[in-house]
Amino acid sequence: MCRAVERADGPSVQHNLACVSRDSAFIEERAALYAAAHSLQPTAVQRELIAETAKLGRVAGMQIGPLQGAFMTVLTTALRPRLAVEVGTFTGYSALCVASALEPGAQLICCDVSEEWTSVARRYWERAGVADRIDLRIGPALDTLRALPNEPRIDLAFIDADKSSYPDYYEAILERLAPGGVILVDNVLRGGTVADPGHDDEATEAMRAFNDHVAADSRVSSVMLPIGDGLTMISRRQ
Ligand SMILES: C[S@@+](CC[C@H](N)C(=O)[O-])C[C@H]1O[C@@H](n2cnc3c(N)ncnc32)[C@H](O)[C@@H]1O
Repeated sequence: MCRAVERADGPSVQHNLACVSRDSAFIEERAALYAAAHSLQPTAVQRELIAETAKLGRVAGMQIGPLQGAFMTVLTTALRPRLAVEVGTFTGYSALCVASALEPGAQLICCDVSEEWTSVARRYWERAGVADRIDLRIGPALDTLRALPNEPRIDLAFIDADKSSYPDYYEAILERLAPGGVILVDNVLRGGTVADPGHDDEATEAMRAFNDHVAADSRVSSVMLPIGDGLTMISRRQ
């Protein structure tokens, strides 16, 4: 649902609010709107990509929201990764948020199985002037990750593809993670079902097992953030 919020710089905030439901599932609505309005706003190209993706219908719900996009852009700016990896690219919005903050010479490897959805991504990366920083690899992401050389190490990774493979993606990336590197994992709250004992379906149990594994993993420090559908941020202990 879109609701207005008092702020002087109108249009981009209004647009952001149109997408706020994906950003605010676990935060009281007014606070979510306020947070969105006081965060980095999507660029014109990002807004157009969000609008084009929305026309795809229900699958558009796979796209991260603008608040999470802003978080990923700010994090990328702070970490200054030389190599970033994305598992699950869809129409390219989260990749655009990361790529737009990469420094010259840095690279983002994107993994997806869909030529159709990533053809949309390619168009918007071109328009945003970041296509030369992105290496899109079509094929099962686990094959792509396992084929990566040991060097350079991964400085930033975002896992947002088929949930059943999360444990494999996590291990493949952790093995290749640079000291001080960060892994982001999306949808860890699964709409809150992981915290609800009334849900015992296979997908929810699998996400619980993955979350328990990360929380108990002595190799890493992690924090689960109630942004989007739940985002875990993980760094390897030095
Ligand atoms: C949730 S969407 C990614 C959304 C994207 N990060 C964004 O914010 O716009 C998940 C994507 O994972 C891709 N995917 C599913 N299984 C995969 C696999 N085994 N290997 C690579 N990509 C896969 C799908 O094609 C889909 O585009």
